[in-house]
Amino acid sequence: MHLFRTKSVETINEDTGGDGDGGVGRLRQHLSARHLVGFGIGVVIGTGIFTLTGVQAKNTAGPAVVISFGIAGVVALLAALCYAELASAVPTAGSAYSYAYATTGELFAWVIGWDLFLEFALGAAVVARGWSGYVGNLLDLPPSLFGEDSTVNLGAVLIVVALTLVAVLGIRESARVTSGLVIIKVAVCVFVIVAGGWFVRGANLTPFVPPGRPAEGGSGWTQPVIQAVAGLEPAAFGIGGILTAAAVVFFAYTGFEAVANLSEETRRPGRDLPLGLLGTLGVSTALYIGVSLVVVGMVHYDRIDEGAPIADAFDQVGLGWAAALVSIAAVAGLTSVILVDLVTVTRIGFAMGRDGLLPPAMAKVSARTGTPIRMTLLYAAVVLVLAAFVKLSVLADLVSIGTLFAFVLVSAAVPALRRKRPDMARPFRVPFSPVVPIVAALACLYLMLNLSIETWVRFLIWLALGLVFYAVYGYRHSRVGAREALPVPAVDSRA
Ligand code: ALA
Repeated sequence: MHLFRTKSVETINEDTGGDGDGGVGRLRQHLSARHLVGFGIGVVIGTGIFTLTGVQAKNTAGPAVVISFGIAGVVALLAALCYAELASAVPTAGSAYSYAYATTGELFAWVIGWDLFLEFALGAAVVARGWSGYVGNLLDLPPSLFGEDSTVNLGAVLIVVALTLVAVLGIRESARVTSGLVIIKVAVCVFVIVAGGWFVRGANLTPFVPPGRPAEGGSGWTQPVIQAVAGLEPAAFGIGGILTAAAVVFFAYTGFEAVANLSEETRRPGRDLPLGLLGTLGVSTALYIGVSLVVVGMVHYDRIDEGAPIADAFDQVGLGWAAALVSIAAVAGLTSVILVDLVTVTRIGFAMGRDGLLPPAMAKVSARTGTPIRMTLLYAAVVLVLAAFVKLSVLADLVSIGTLFAFVLVSAAVPALRRKRPDMARPFRVPFSPVVPIVAALACLYLMLNLSIETWVRFLIWLALGLVFYAVYGYRHSRVGAREALPVPAVDSRA
């Protein structure tokens, strides 16, 4: 079946080496493990920890939101192990898209690439609007231009334009800006843990797991798929609450896989990619657990603020100046998430253009900057329109479902590729395969089922649109398809 034609690992590696690049050119290899961890933390720590902690502690899990962060962290770690094996063995800008191409074939590869566009484009747009709100608040700017109710969100437009310029300039420039922002936000997270630690009171942490009770709302389209399928009543708190909150706070870990998209720009991929991926997750998980524990320890969960839980916790204990510091860190955090989103998604588009599934002219790397400028501008334009005009708060869950879907496929690709290509060099190997990859895939699937029916419906509509695009363009222009169609050399019958 042509739809399931695969691209061999050798061809992928040849393409990334520049011999068969389809005329799009090569990316520059500038990055080390340190840069990768910088990019990773840059894109991971953002709105998740600065906002979701409050809502989930207050309405769904209580102080046990800390356990939810732990569970989501473990699931992300399992997926990261799978990414580390594939990214170090097949270092390509397409990451999950390319792994799917090598294992399940072109159709799945397309679906994954399309899915990642959704994840990163919406992620960048959601965060740009969040950025605008935070900056508006901090500097007292007019809500009609910076708030969620603005007709054209000027703040979101400005930040997307500014960061597009950085992304176009070069990977080294982007790494430099990201490092500065990451240092600010990590320093403030450590400050929250250390300074907030003094104000933690045991009374706020008991009961750590509040008893379960029926949740208000959450029926119809907004209920989790798993509840609808199993006919369960919506529940809050207790064990069920912890698991539901884990699915929601998983958003806070999304993005680390962007590190794998920088594979072609990494100097020593075999060593640096596992370090970059696992280092990012290790640091983020430790900070998330520390920050969430301190916040629910400083303020009783039923008095926690839903909008800005960390800043408000400091306000409540009388440290107003610390609240301002946290807001500045949030702005730095959000800025780097947008930047890394802009940088990485264009790498996926670049890989898809190289394969002919998107127009190659769009994927061309500029000789001057070493970045795919046209792809970056096109993608930035989409993000700009979304961020300027569309209220995206309801769409944040789409980012999670898109990520989890990619994780399921990547986890499945590990044992599939081990069976198909046992001989392949693998600088990093997932321990206990296939058990760990299978557990990773099932855990991601379980979290997906905890997302709402409306999220699933939107996601499926997006995938259907992608299939139409593939049928109209990608299928006909695929370079793998063109190679398959080459006439087989005639066999000399006299031989
Ligand atoms: N993980 C990123 C965040 O929490 C998307 O903002």
